[in-house]
Amino acid sequence: MPDRLDAFLSHRGFGSRSQVRELVRSGKVTVGDAICRDQARHLRGEEVRVDGVLIETGLTAATLLVHKPLGLACSHDPGEAPLLEDIIPEDYAHLPMEPAGRLDRDTSGLLIVTSSGDLIHSLTNPRRHIAKRYRIAYSGRLSAHAAERCAKGMQLEDDPKPTLPARLILETPRLDGLSTATLILHEGRYHQVRRMIAALGGEVTALHRDRIGGLDLPRDLPPGQVRELSEVEQASLFVEQGA
Ligand code: URA
Repeated sequence: MPDRLDAFLSHRGFGSRSQVRELVRSGKVTVGDAICRDQARHLRGEEVRVDGVLIETGLTAATLLVHKPLGLACSHDPGEAPLLEDIIPEDYAHLPMEPAGRLDRDTSGLLIVTSSGDLIHSLTNPRRHIAKRYRIAYSGRLSAHAAERCAKGMQLEDDPKPTLPARLILETPRLDGLSTATLILHEGRYHQVRRMIAALGGEVTALHRDRIGGLDLPRDLPPGQVRELSEVEQASLFVEQGA
């Protein structure tokens, strides 16, 4: 899909869509050899200049592998700062980068952030059944048939549709009394892990995602670090893995 002129300029630091519209109307913007006053003009590789200065096209697409640290919100609302976008390098600021499914502010782990709407759709569409693996610490005691209830699909409060079958693996309680578990989901509803554990009688105290499809969060990527996803890694997102 070609970029619209207003999106192109806005993603390169020329302000909001309305500021860009004013700029374009002022006649300072040229597309190819001609002044363009239509902010909705689709670009097909022409050179764009503002006040005669060529605007670099830069990268046209990117997909990043992010180790989301605790404390960042996956939104663009400055009122919710600090934001995930604060750790995305400037080089990608002109691109419409979005996370493929959100993690809560107090969840850490593997996140794919991409300019590709198709990739986001493929990773988040429950029909694609991409597994997401969560490591959980929780307080309280889970009901005796917790794993069976997850496997069958369970009814969550305020949600008419039962969850898709999920795999819950309860771990032996640790000496310090902390209870831990692994949950593998094939969908991503709002606060889903926390709500499922609550429905089973527990309360999540820490949550970390360490795998999507067949891609593990790389051990050499510390929290807060970001790097480009390789093609091999992207393909592995769609490969099924066991627990
Ligand atoms: N489920 C949750 O409850 N929170 C997350 O961040 C991800 C899945």
